Amino acid sequence: MRLDKFLSQLNMGSRNDVKALIRQGKVTVNDKTETACDRKIDETVDRIVCNGQPLHYSPYVYYMMNKPAGVVSSTTDRAERTVLDLLRPLLPTQDQKRELVPVGRLDKDTEGLLLLTDDGALVHRMLAPKKHVDKTYLVTCALPLSDASVCALENGVEIGEKQPTLPARVTRVNDTVIYLTIHEGKFHQVKRMLTAVDNQVCALKRVQFGPLQLDDTLASGASRALTAEEIRMLQALK
Ligand code: URA
Repeated sequence: MRLDKFLSQLNMGSRNDVKALIRQGKVTVNDKTETACDRKIDETVDRIVCNGQPLHYSPYVYYMMNKPAGVVSSTTDRAERTVLDLLRPLLPTQDQKRELVPVGRLDKDTEGLLLLTDDGALVHRMLAPKKHVDKTYLVTCALPLSDASVCALENGVEIGEKQPTLPARVTRVNDTVIYLTIHEGKFHQVKRMLTAVDNQVCALKRVQFGPLQLDDTLASGASRALTAEEIRMLQALK
C-alpha cells in the first residue's frame, strides 16, 4: 500500500494533510525518514511512525455513531430501521462489505455514542460484565431529583436483579438533568434505576463509553471512523 494511503486510512488527516506530513519529514519507515508519498509499504510488517507516534496496522475498522432516536441497535430487523441501515450508505467503499456490529445496545429512543466494529475480540472485551466498562449518560428526568434520590442512585438501587446496582456517579446539571455514570450494562438499566427512585426518564443520551467520548461535532445520525488515538485507547483496555 502507498504510505500516504496508509496514513489517511489510519485517520491521520485527509490525503492532502498526510502528504504534507510526509513531505515535511514527519514520517519514518523502519526508523528512516521517508519523504516520498508514493513509497510502497507492507503495512503488516513495516514500522511506521508519524510525529513520534507509532502507527499500528489493524485489520479491523471502528466507527463512532451519534445514534439518533428511532433506530434500533441491531444488525438486521424485519420491521425497524437499524443503525447498520443508517451507517452502511455512509461507509467508504472498502468497508461496505465488512460485518460490522454495534458494541452493545442502546434503546430505540436512546441517542448518542454507539461504537460499531468488526473486531469481535474488542466487542467481547467491552461487553464482558466483569470488565465494568464505564458508560456515561445525560439523563433528563420527568420530575426534579431530590438529594436522597441522587444519593440512592450513587449507592446502588434495587432494579429487580439478584443484586442492587453497583455504585454509580451522578453530576447534576439542573433539577431534572444529570450525568449518570454506571459500570454495568443491564437491560434498560438507566430507566430502571430512575424508576427505582420514583422518577422516569424523558430523554437519554450516551456521551461516554469506556475511554471514548461522543464527538460533539457529529450531527445526530452521523458517524466517523475512530482516530488512531481512540483505537489505541480501546486496545489498551485490559
Ligand atoms: N439504559 C437504558 O435504560 N437504556 C439505554 O438505552 C441505555 C442504558
